[in-house]
Amino acid sequence: MKVPFYDATREYALYKSEFDQAVSEVITSGAFILGKQVNDFEEAVCKYTGASYAVGIANGSDALVIASDILDFKNGAEILTPVFTFFASASCIARLGGKPVFCDIDEDTYCMDMRDAENRITNKTKGILPVHLFLQTADMIACMEIAEKHHLAVLEDAAEAFGMRTLYKGEHKYAGLIGDFGVFSFFPTKTLGGYGDGGMIVTNNEELYQKAKSYRVHGSTVRYHHDYIGYNSRLDTLQAAILNVKLYHIDTAIQKREKHAVQYRELLKDIAEIKLPVVKNNHKEVY
Ligand SMILES: Cc1ncc(COP(=O)(O)O)c(C=O)c1O
Repeated sequence: MKVPFYDATREYALYKSEFDQAVSEVITSGAFILGKQVNDFEEAVCKYTGASYAVGIANGSDALVIASDILDFKNGAEILTPVFTFFASASCIARLGGKPVFCDIDEDTYCMDMRDAENRITNKTKGILPVHLFLQTADMIACMEIAEKHHLAVLEDAAEAFGMRTLYKGEHKYAGLIGDFGVFSFFPTKTLGGYGDGGMIVTNNEELYQKAKSYRVHGSTVRYHHDYIGYNSRLDTLQAAILNVKLYHIDTAIQKREKHAVQYRELLKDIAEIKLPVVKNNHKEVY
C-alpha cells in the first residue's frame, strides 16, 4: 500500500460541516479581499500565541520578505541564518540585496548554533534570522543575548513552528514571539495548514505592526495614498475561513502528532543506526 506523505482529506471529513459553513459564509458575503475572516483569524492567533499583533500575508515566503524589508535586512547588510533550512529563509535576505551569512547547526536540534553565529558577526551584521525547525525552537535565550549585545534585529522564521514553546525569562513563549518579528507559514503540510497558500507576521511592537499592515497593501494606510513601496500580499479570505476552523482544533491536531511520535519512538528505539530526535530542556515541542 502506498501511504501518502500528506493527506488533508481525513481532517476535512472529520470537520466537514464546519469547513463547508466557513467557506460558504465567505462566498455568500462577497467580501473576498481582507474580509472579516482575516481579521477574526489574526485575533485568534493573537489570543492563542499571546502576540500583540498579527498580520495575515499571502504566504510564509512573502511574510519573510516583508519583515526583512521593514527590518532593513538589505543593501549589503549581513544577516545570520542557519545553513540548514528551506530556501526562503535565505532568499528573503538576498532578494533585497542583503547577504545571508550561513551558520552551522546544533547536532541535536538541527537549529542554528548560536555560538557559531556569534563568531560570524562583523561590523556589517544587522540581524539574526533563526529558524525553528521540526520539533523545537532554536535557542532563543542565546539568540536574544547575542542580539542585545551586538544591537541586532531578530526575525524568527517560525514557518514550521506554530505552537512550539520555549522557556524565556521565566515564561513559556510561543515561537515567533520573542524576536522583533515572527513569521508563520500556513502551507497545507504545516502544523496549522490551510487549503492553499497562507502566511502571517506577528510582533509585539506597534510601530512594526503598522508598517507590516501597510506593506501588505502597497505601503498604504489610506486608500490610494502610499507611504511606502510595499507589496500586494494578503492572506486570502477563504484561507482565513479554513484556518479559523483549523485553529479551533489545533490542540487536538498537535496531540495527535505527539501520540504518533511516541509510537514511532517506541518502535524505533532499539535500532542502533537511527538517532531519535532530542528535545532540549525548557522546550515544549510540536512534531
Ligand atoms: C523554514 C521555512 N521557511 C519558510 C517557508 C516558506 O513558507 P511558504 O511555503 O508559506 O511560502 C517554509 C515552508 O515552505 C519553511 O519550511
